Amino acid sequence: MAENGYLLELKDVSRHFGGLVAVDGISYGVRKGEVRGIIGPNGAGKTTLFNVITGELKPTAGRIYLKGEDITGLPAHIICEKGMSRTFQLTFIFPEMTVFECVWVGVYSRARRPWDLFFSRTDPSGPIAEKAQRIIHTVGLEEKTHEMASNLSYGDQKVLEIAMALSTDPVILLLDEPTQGVGPGEVDTIINLVERLSKEMSIVLIEHDMDIVARLCHNVTVLSFGKMIAEGTCEAVSRNEEVQRIYLGEKIVCS
Ligand SMILES: Nc1ncnc2c1ncn2[C@@H]1O[C@H](COP(=O)(O)OP(=O)(O)OP(=O)(O)O)[C@@H](O)[C@H]1O
Ligand SMILES: [Mg+2]
Repeated sequence: MAENGYLLELKDVSRHFGGLVAVDGISYGVRKGEVRGIIGPNGAGKTTLFNVITGELKPTAGRIYLKGEDITGLPAHIICEKGMSRTFQLTFIFPEMTVFECVWVGVYSRARRPWDLFFSRTDPSGPIAEKAQRIIHTVGLEEKTHEMASNLSYGDQKVLEIAMALSTDPVILLLDEPTQGVGPGEVDTIINLVERLSKEMSIVLIEHDMDIVARLCHNVTVLSFGKMIAEGTCEAVSRNEEVQRIYLGEKIVCS
């Protein structure tokens, strides 16, 4: 943990694509146990910010610290090893594998050298398999352990992606719109899962639905055209005039 109490800290982080400033001087800190919401209109820079934090993209400027350590510009797999996991806006799973195999691969890659996978099978017993089963149980997919990932409902695929993200024992989990495109019946399952996980780790959540943000998040960061235009509790940001202006016509009142 950093001396200032932040698990994750961003200092003046920017990312340009040619002349486009997708992320423009963002600074904020996430504390241990905090659930932080990131909201903003389409194209505001939310996913780009995640890509920069998790090492998929290098920032054009600024520094990023995890547990006080400068992780700016490190490759994604190293940042993941240091305790940060993520899910993607477009779900990333292995469709031709079972639920068990998808999670097993994640646990295995943490435990051993990933290239050994080419010479190995998903051993049904042993500590790696036990850990994979524990994670599958945690996310509530045990009845679908041997289902092919491509046969799962979209909501369950999102849950599986979260399970895969858990396989590297994160201290902080970044979720990019985990309820997007999910049917109403399954949205609650994902909210309940995020709520349960938040007891174990910090979470940063990109989410468009303000009811979900209000229910899950302690603090909210609002982005618009790459800039942070407001930060605070859900209630406070929903009262902010600039936030109200960019969300004109949409519901931003926290219930
Ligand atoms: N690899 C890239 N190359 C060029 N421009 C990009 C790239 N990735 C994102 N952008 C641009 O950066 C801006 C921010 O995009 P980003 O995907 O981060 O927005 P977002 O807030 O996640 O939007 P949404 O709510 O639609 O997911 C957009 O103008 C987008 O077109
Ligand atoms: Mg996005």
